[in-house]
Amino acid sequence: MNDHLTIVDHPLVQHKLTIMRDKATPTHQFRQLLREISQLIAYEVTRGLETGLVRIETPLTEMQAPMLAGKKLALISILRAGNGLLDGILELIPGARVGFVGLYRDPETLQPVQYYFKVPEDLRDRMVIVVDPMLATGNSSAAAIDLLKEAGARNIRFLCLLAAPEGVARMKQAHPDVPIVTAALDECLNDHGYIVPGLGDAGDRMFGTK
Ligand code: URA
Repeated sequence: MNDHLTIVDHPLVQHKLTIMRDKATPTHQFRQLLREISQLIAYEVTRGLETGLVRIETPLTEMQAPMLAGKKLALISILRAGNGLLDGILELIPGARVGFVGLYRDPETLQPVQYYFKVPEDLRDRMVIVVDPMLATGNSSAAAIDLLKEAGARNIRFLCLLAAPEGVARMKQAHPDVPIVTAALDECLNDHGYIVPGLGDAGDRMFGTK
């Protein structure tokens, strides 16, 4: 654990992650667990949210009590697997604004190419949480964050379920100012860019496409 990488090693998170990794876990259960885990990781990633005191009356007395302050935070999903993390986090933070970044890998250059980009206004003034379950090579995550910085974002965090050392290193080199919060740091990538031991293709597992 360091400032750039936080591993949420809470027993509930680790228990749920183990069930998700198991190839026998069916799609509907995978999706439900992803939703639950997304909330537990979001709890950690939003630790630094700004609060301010407001005056309220309890049934007994008046008091100054903390509430979230500042502009609503922005959740940015990297399509398509990022969408599996959105609903759970939105349940926890219903006022969050939501954006989407779509990237595909050019088969010749192997570089990420943007095909969709729609994000909330005023990113400069918001905490921006980029969500993608798998931080594998880190190339598309780093490219998505390049685009968000071009759009003005300055206070960015990256939330994922699993990270590979290669992806963490790539992100640290490209965006050392963006903390990563994950449920686990796995061993490595295989020759096809999958995280090992991992959980397979997160999109296929959550949408049942394979
Ligand atoms: N994307 C996935 O869905 N799984 C991996 O293991 C790597 C990237």
